[in-house]
Amino acid sequence: MSGIEKTKIVVSGMRPTGRLHLGHLHGALRNWVKLQHEADRCFFFVADWHVLTTKPEATESIEQNTVEMVTDWLAVGLDPDKVVIFRQSAVKQHAELHLLLSMVTPTPWLIRNPTVKEQARDLGLISGESEQEVLSLSYGLLGYPVLQSADVLVYKATAVPVGEDQAPHIELTREIARRFNHLYGPVFPEPQTLVTEAPRVPGLDGRKMSKSFNNAVWLRDPPEEVDRKLSRMMTDPRRVRRTDPGEPEDCPAFRLHRIYCTPEEIDYVTRGCRTAGIGCLECKKIMIRHVVEDLSPIAERRRQLEAEPERVQETLQRGRERAETVAESTMKEVRSAVGLPA
Ligand code: TRP
Ligand code: SF4
Repeated sequence: MSGIEKTKIVVSGMRPTGRLHLGHLHGALRNWVKLQHEADRCFFFVADWHVLTTKPEATESIEQNTVEMVTDWLAVGLDPDKVVIFRQSAVKQHAELHLLLSMVTPTPWLIRNPTVKEQARDLGLISGESEQEVLSLSYGLLGYPVLQSADVLVYKATAVPVGEDQAPHIELTREIARRFNHLYGPVFPEPQTLVTEAPRVPGLDGRKMSKSFNNAVWLRDPPEEVDRKLSRMMTDPRRVRRTDPGEPEDCPAFRLHRIYCTPEEIDYVTRGCRTAGIGCLECKKIMIRHVVEDLSPIAERRRQLEAEPERVQETLQRGRERAETVAESTMKEVRSAVGLPA
């Protein structure tokens, strides 16, 4: 086997949604920060072209959202000396590889993708699942998992950390890589999916934490705001009065205790809740203290970053150069494999 299998190359991307919240922190970023120490190379990019696949009109917010998101990445502890951070759209090789991969991707592989169908339904673009409806979607939206495959393969990734919903795309990436290698010779490793194991972070209303539900605790919320929001977070609805016992397993706030509290605190709270020995506010304060403590070094780093706004642009520029060098070297191999001038 060649050396590519031995080197651990991690690639992942995030759509630029602007500032990030606790869901991003536990669902992705903490894992990325850990991987930057474990992998040989990490590429983390702003998936700006991907925004246009679902919202082609969303042109005005892309740049500002990119800067806000990358500021949060750095604040959380991604280190631009260890990982390559860049904008997808700055590295044109992603687009070129997407085009070439599209030649070897049968359309049924795209039409059956459950995540694309769910996203299209959530966006109100389709109402059901029939093939006819799915075929009414744009070429770019149906094909975005091929673009995602190119995002990953252009760096010869061996591992891709993603949420569970993205697993079908990495499966497709492996199928495309296999097919490409079979047709043209061994160019790409088949990347593994690293499904983030972190528990889903509940929003203030108990639904999944999300910008569009307006139920988020932002990484940049000041301590008073974190306290105010979490103090009002939804609890077990059975605890109408202070004297009503509750059940932590049915309490959205308690899911944050599970992430943040010590085993002793969890025991104390569980007993207190079931016996109505503590009130919800007292209970939540125990967890809130940990959340505030967790966010405080992030806030401190953000203050430093905001004092030097050129840092983010420099990071993206340097990342672009490093990413482009690797992507171009892969593309030379790819072009010659498919019979084009390298
Ligand atoms: N599609 C991913 C999302 O919506 C973002 C993404 C784009 C990505 N390209 C990627 C993730 C490559 C991992 C690898 O979350
Ligand atoms: Fe939730 Fe704690 Fe209230 Fe029980 S006491 S319902 S665990 S907030």
